[in-house]
Amino acid sequence: MKSSSGEIVNNNKIGEDLYKIDIFSPYLCKNSKLGQFINIKCAEPKQYDPLLRRPFAIYDMENDFNVVTILYQLKGKGTKYLSGLVKGDVIDFCGPLGQPVELENNKVLLIGGGIGIAPLFFIARQCVNQSREVHIVAGFKDQSYRLIERDIMRLNINYRIYCEQENWAHTGQVVDGLTDIGNFDNYDIYCCGPKPMLKALQDKLSFRQGKTVAILEEWMACGVGVCAGCAVKIKQGEDRFTYKKVCSDGPAFNLMEVVFD
Ligand code: FES
Repeated sequence: MKSSSGEIVNNNKIGEDLYKIDIFSPYLCKNSKLGQFINIKCAEPKQYDPLLRRPFAIYDMENDFNVVTILYQLKGKGTKYLSGLVKGDVIDFCGPLGQPVELENNKVLLIGGGIGIAPLFFIARQCVNQSREVHIVAGFKDQSYRLIERDIMRLNINYRIYCEQENWAHTGQVVDGLTDIGNFDNYDIYCCGPKPMLKALQDKLSFRQGKTVAILEEWMACGVGVCAGCAVKIKQGEDRFTYKKVCSDGPAFNLMEVVFD
């Protein structure tokens, strides 16, 4: 597996335990597609603790400046290491990895929960660049994601935000807020977020005929389809299923075919 390196341009805390890192990488800018991710080595050079790389969805890209942006939440040793890096430090990554998401419809609805907003924002940016109509409905547990709203506002698109805490946006959970989902019958839907949210969406959207895609987040080891550590159950017909690898077959799957055990 070939690894590349990129220089950090910015690494900023933007909310409680939430960070944005900008990486200078002409290679990533040239080759990354929607829905793809990179696997970052979260340890000093020649150190291997933690041993496994960490997968991060691409959040944004500035092609004119060859900068790719990753959004990450402080969760453990790997992300703690990342949060300590500063401008000029170099990170080692593999990628872009995963199958690209192909946009087909001119009308797109993006439904995100928590850090799941990351790949959706990248899709939203592309929709705007391609003059597709795009709406974002996003839900967050607390107000640590407030600055993400500023990024969304800059896209100048329709959006709605839900927060489980009061005093910002609509109060509540994103799935409960989708009472107007009937207005989006002729949209393609892409969603990303925690499994309980995706499962609730699967139930809520089961009536739909249109394309409903889930971009799955999973713990990964190799990131390239070798270890099977990221396998998920996918329905095959009425009562059969198979296993697919999130890293190499996905991370995007038909939401209605994902089996949430
Ligand atoms: Fe190894 Fe997906 S992480 S197969």
